[in-house]
Amino acid sequence: MRSPPAIMPTIYCFEESAILARKTASILHARCRKIHERRFPDGESLVKVDKSAAREVVILRSLDHPDLKLMPTLLAADALRRAGARNVTLVAPYLAYMRQDKIFAPGQPISQRVIGGILGRYFDRVLTIEAHLHRIQRLSEVVPSRRQSESLSAAPAIADWARASGQDCEDCVIIGPDKESRPWIEAIAKASGREFAVGDKHRTGDRKIRVEFGELRAHRRAIIVDDIASSGATLAATAQALRARGIRAIDAVVVHAIFAVGALSIIRRGGIRKLVSCDTIAHRTNAISVAPLIAKVLAGAA
Ligand code: R5P
Repeated sequence: MRSPPAIMPTIYCFEESAILARKTASILHARCRKIHERRFPDGESLVKVDKSAAREVVILRSLDHPDLKLMPTLLAADALRRAGARNVTLVAPYLAYMRQDKIFAPGQPISQRVIGGILGRYFDRVLTIEAHLHRIQRLSEVVPSRRQSESLSAAPAIADWARASGQDCEDCVIIGPDKESRPWIEAIAKASGREFAVGDKHRTGDRKIRVEFGELRAHRRAIIVDDIASSGATLAATAQALRARGIRAIDAVVVHAIFAVGALSIIRRGGIRKLVSCDTIAHRTNAISVAPLIAKVLAGAA
């Protein structure tokens, strides 16, 4: 007997997440709807969704600039439930506040747990991509949602890009800036048929970074892969260390193109030739789409 066709969720997006939301909806043959957002003069926000919502809905929005975006996103979840939604999933391809996952200095909060706790109360499930989970195994450990929340890996999509883009140079090495990136870098290198190496990163300030490499020969080309580029200092310092080892052609791939003010010129000055990103955050460097990955997981859950 044939199983009944899966019911696809309606995908809701905000203005800035419309491109990725439409791509994902089109893969799923699902509906894509906009959430309207306005700001009052005092900075408060108000959102508006359709009068009546489907039972299964997804809000797709990256939570970069989280202090601005989180509140309207929570309000949208409430509005959708009041409009009839029974299951509200948040797909936040980039999820902020995951890096403050322990008390690094006395007096600090564990922001990862605060944000995870809030999201777990408002959403039935949270999906994100490469959530920088260095001290925990699973996102569900900090997001106590009804259905299991997950951080998906962008490694296969990056490996496909590295394989295709490295066709002009056989002697290409995949580089991770720090030891924490090792399992991820190893997976990308293996899947793209390349060698890999990881650096030893020392951060002494927001933009003060030193990266060192042990054994590393002068490959003809290197592709640095990192989950986040914010100030750009990590990519620039890594490129500098690679050049000191005689590697001249250096490209970089990042998952989350946060790029704070001045980041692109720091990266350019660091000597990176080509810079590409995944489309978790809309940016002109987007070259690798995570829409197929999100669609696959949503289809599995439908
Ligand atoms: C840190 O552990 C992350 O993996 C990134 O390397 C870091 O967030 C990049 O930040 P920035 O661009 O400011 O150096």
